[in-house]
Amino acid sequence: MTLEDVRRIAVIGAGQMGSQIAMQAALHGYEVALQDISAAQLEKATAGNRTQLDRRVAKGKLAAEERDAALARVHPTHSLEQAAGPADFVIEAVVERLEEKKQVFAQLDLAAARHAILATNSSYIGNTQLAAATSRPEKVVNMHFFFPPLVMRLVEVVKGEKTSEETVAITAGLARAIGREPVVLCKELPGFLVNRILRAIQGEAYFLLENGVASFADIDKAAELGLNFPLGPFKLADFSGLDIGYYSRLDRYQETQNPADAPPRALQVRVERGDLGRKTGKGFYDYSTDPPAPTEDT
Ligand SMILES: NC(=O)c1ccc[n+]([C@@H]2O[C@H](COP(=O)([O-])OP(=O)(O)OC[C@H]3O[C@@H](n4cnc5c(N)ncnc54)[C@H](O)[C@@H]3O)[C@@H](O)[C@H]2O)c1
Repeated sequence: MTLEDVRRIAVIGAGQMGSQIAMQAALHGYEVALQDISAAQLEKATAGNRTQLDRRVAKGKLAAEERDAALARVHPTHSLEQAAGPADFVIEAVVERLEEKKQVFAQLDLAAARHAILATNSSYIGNTQLAAATSRPEKVVNMHFFFPPLVMRLVEVVKGEKTSEETVAITAGLARAIGREPVVLCKELPGFLVNRILRAIQGEAYFLLENGVASFADIDKAAELGLNFPLGPFKLADFSGLDIGYYSRLDRYQETQNPADAPPRALQVRVERGDLGRKTGKGFYDYSTDPPAPTEDT
């Protein structure tokens, strides 16, 4: 199989990620089936994609005919069999739960043609665990997009224990074909590249904060002005949602019982107050003012 054999794509899960991954592929000429178990989610995905493309048309970045053609190439469906049956390449983007994903991979293995590649967009789960639920482990791979997929250019492609070189090459090629830049991980490691680097930076930022070395606003300023980061680590945490960072640390702490892995107090108090970052209007910063003002811990 080669990249040229990939004509039809199926995206399983039409949430924040799946909906835009499907749209990105359709913008580059692919016919894409977009499947979800929730009818409401499929409607939301279609409406959301239309809004995104309308904005591009309004800004003169996309012709109205191109928008209409690209939207028409995304085919929403409730049926996994209908989505995966004709697909040459499947991208799974359902909830981040191992058992759910294993079930989806077992279903995909039955529904998809023998030549089809099965990729997961999981943020942390390596494909080897999912490949074990299929009879084609050499065709299972991680294809990890970043939020929002219509904007973020990077895609991490991860080779699992049994993923073939051909599968890795086609996946990286497909990323390029839909206007994205792949990086290839030759082995599986939880968190892949970006989330590991991010975790290291955020770990150090929280260490400095918790030890009273500097305020979070000054730590952000140091990263922005001294390292040319577009956003300091606390502004970035607000952008991603503080609940995501909090619960991933809590999970890790419950697993390791290592006090160094416990969620930092400054994060915990904000999550407990319901201040989850930009999405709630307040996190480390209060977004009701311009520029946003640093908030207090108590
Ligand atoms: N949100 C991010 O920033 C981000 C970034 C990179 C990767 N990811 C990964 O992408 C995946 C999806 O994340 P998201 O943020 O889009 O989540 P989301 O909650 O927005 O969407 C998940 C969708 O999956 C659907 N779903 C659940 N079970 C299903 C099933 N069995 N079959 C079909 N659809 C099913 C849900 O109805 C929902 O629409 C996760 O694995 C996540 O780790 C997320």
